[in-house]
Amino acid sequence: MNTDKRKNRFFSIQSASFLVAAALSCAANAATPEELATASGCMNCHSAQEKKVGPAFKSIAEKYKGQADAVSTLTQTVRNGGRGNWGRIPMPPHSSLAENDIKQIVTWVMTH
Ligand code: HEC
Repeated sequence: MNTDKRKNRFFSIQSASFLVAAALSCAANAATPEELATASGCMNCHSAQEKKVGPAFKSIAEKYKGQADAVSTLTQTVRNGGRGNWGRIPMPPHSSLAENDIKQIVTWVMTH
């Protein structure tokens, strides 16, 4: 029957575009800075807009936005731990994280 044939063609186009979509999402699979931040535990103490244990990313971006070396300085702070810049609670060191991952997260923090 004619209609069956047309249906079949429709389904194969559907599955072809599904495969393309799957391939594209694989290519984009490298974690976003936001996913890295969540996976690295940053979001346990930080949030974009609100102060939690640590300062809001928005406040951090505001404080350091004029500084050309902010990303590299803050990357080291996150790596080695920080204290005294925001209050009495220190940030523990994150020496087990790859420096490049921290840098990506901090670059993203500075866009808030
Ligand atoms: C256990 C809680 C905690 C975790 C986990 C944490 N932070 Fe922090 N963070 C803090 C606190 C508290 C401060 C404020 C320290 C201070 O007063 O200098 C801070 C400060 C910062 C600052 C500003 C540093 C400065 O000198 O101004 C940045 C940037 C930052 N955190 C990024 C991160 C990133 C990125 C992660 C994840 C890899 C992370 N934090 C994980 C608690 C945390």
